[in-house]
Amino acid sequence: MSNEKKTFYITTPIYYTSGHLHIGNSYTTVAADTMARYKRMCGYDVMMLTGTDEHGQKVERKAQEAGKTPKEFTDEIVADIKNIWEVLGIHYDKFIRTSDDYHVAAVQKIYQELYDKGEIYKSEYEGHYCSPCESFWTESQLVDGKCPDCGRPVEKAKEESYFFRLSKYQDRLIELLENNPGLLQPEARAAEMINNFLKPGLKDLCVSRTTIKWGVPLPFDERHVAYVWIDALSNYLTALGYKSDDDGLMKKYWPADIHLVGKDIVRFHTIIWFAVLMALDVELPKQVYGHGWLQMNGDKVSKSKASGAACIVDPIFLAEHFGKDAVRYFLLREMPFGSDGEYTYDGLMNRINADLANDLGNLVSRSTAMAVKYFDGKIPAARVSEPVDEELLSLTKTVGASAKPYMEAMSFSLALTEIFKLVSRANKYIDETAPWALAKDPEKSDRLATVLANLFEAIRVISNLLIPFMPDTCEKILSCIGASAVAWDSCAQEGCLSGEIAVSPCEALFPRIDVKKELSAVGLGEDTPAEKPAKKEKKKKSSEPSPAAEIGIEDFLNVDLSVAKVLECEAVENSEKLLKLKVTFGNEERQIVSGIAKAYAPADLIGHNVVVVKNLKPAVIFGLESFGMILASGQGENIHVMFADESNPGDRIR
Ligand code: MSP
Repeated sequence: MSNEKKTFYITTPIYYTSGHLHIGNSYTTVAADTMARYKRMCGYDVMMLTGTDEHGQKVERKAQEAGKTPKEFTDEIVADIKNIWEVLGIHYDKFIRTSDDYHVAAVQKIYQELYDKGEIYKSEYEGHYCSPCESFWTESQLVDGKCPDCGRPVEKAKEESYFFRLSKYQDRLIELLENNPGLLQPEARAAEMINNFLKPGLKDLCVSRTTIKWGVPLPFDERHVAYVWIDALSNYLTALGYKSDDDGLMKKYWPADIHLVGKDIVRFHTIIWFAVLMALDVELPKQVYGHGWLQMNGDKVSKSKASGAACIVDPIFLAEHFGKDAVRYFLLREMPFGSDGEYTYDGLMNRINADLANDLGNLVSRSTAMAVKYFDGKIPAARVSEPVDEELLSLTKTVGASAKPYMEAMSFSLALTEIFKLVSRANKYIDETAPWALAKDPEKSDRLATVLANLFEAIRVISNLLIPFMPDTCEKILSCIGASAVAWDSCAQEGCLSGEIAVSPCEALFPRIDVKKELSAVGLGEDTPAEKPAKKEKKKKSSEPSPAAEIGIEDFLNVDLSVAKVLECEAVENSEKLLKLKVTFGNEERQIVSGIAKAYAPADLIGHNVVVVKNLKPAVIFGLESFGMILASGQGENIHVMFADESNPGDRIR
């Protein structure tokens, strides 16, 4: 049998260098780092790749504006990006820059091979170019004459260009996505690719430009530079030495296990990238995972949406202010991976206060403080167990196994929910066993030692399992209780339950945040001018519902609010607002018509749990029967559905 470790190759998108990153961009890399750390804990030989996407018109223009060469300009941004990753505790195994010589040389060889094989041919391009997105669009793809991705104006472009025979791959791609449900995750995104892009028909893709200088020159026609997306996507191969003299890493790690990307760039990864790989006869990656967006006011996070307080989306500010582990935890806990989630500054602080300061921080500081106070930090080996210990100990033994499937599926928020069940159980155990009362009776000293040992066993397991999410904090906790990190699967093995335990105080892991004070400090407090216009605007809205009259609990209980899973979802023909959904409550399926189409595509909903007013009288909407109503807040494009992914279909909400 071979002694070689199993390998795991995970990639993040490479980041644009035309501007600075914000907390939304950091999301992909924090998630990839967490997955990489988890896989290392499971014994894998992990390769995590990240880097920068540097070529193109936008960088060329910005560098010119700054009076710098593109290379000088990107060097500075790359240094900033690397600093962000360091501050957020991202451990990457390789950082690739598309301006690296070896990458440029390999991209040229890729183009040459495609050209020699007849996959690339010369023609003339006429279309619309969105410079910020580096994307060409046909007339029919534009939305209101603007870029369909970012909504900004496009420029007409006509030039001699080389084309990649993308259309040839249309049927193979449809078949591939239809027959390999695991290939693109979450699964609903495959239907989106098939229905929105592949079935309407693929056109050959323009893959060269003559109007840009800052790019990879084509080896067979140096007047042209490579299309930035082909240049960028190739990084996943070139980083491993593809088309170089040393392709050892390629042999070891390819095919990639996961290309982790945001939902906006799934299209490039599953259509263009897959077709290029097919054309090169290179094996496809095992999975592309398209995660949701961190949003502000229903749209992607951006500095301009941060109500003037740009620092609240600045990863460096947040990490320095609240600690990198708290920021990492928030990102992965707040939104179900795969779906969108809303980001607010107070939401971040409330989450840190509730889960980290109150629950986890308190558990650790209370337990270590008691060990120091009652046993001078040395808990004796004598033990007296009681039935009340059983529940805590059995959860301690099983939590690693119950969180594992969620980690494997990158459902980080669900994995954290599992692990935090043990945090809550341990806090409850302190209340049940009242160690401070045991400490008053010298005859109960052995029992007190047992209670504390059980607590430290729970803390040991918790801080092992949280390593991928909060590495520094966990290292600190483990060292306070004299334990060390172990593999994920060995966590359940008894650690602190026998023998003496040496404990040192572990205080203020997550100091409580004064939310009001922090909001004021960044200009978002009640009394700061930044908040006032927003309030005025609220009053102006005539469609805002007026406050409802008080009701008794019996009135509330008359409304059956239940959790349902969305099985199917499609747009209602000729309606801009309506979606038709099929949902299940576990034992009953229903059709619901809902006016949320401006804010959600079907793929955003399929597979998710939502909250439904179940006993609403059936209605006919747009000629379709609807049995219930999906709960959501807001209006138009700013509607937010109340997702309930952590509850089970059929659960009643009270
Ligand atoms: N350069 C391309 C990727 C090329 S990969 C071969 C690119 N770069 S990016 O800097 O714009 O985006 C990097 C990542 O950040 C993408 O996965 C994108 O989806 C993600 N995000 C940007 N804003 C985001 C949020 N607000 N929320 C979550 N992720 C977001 O695209």
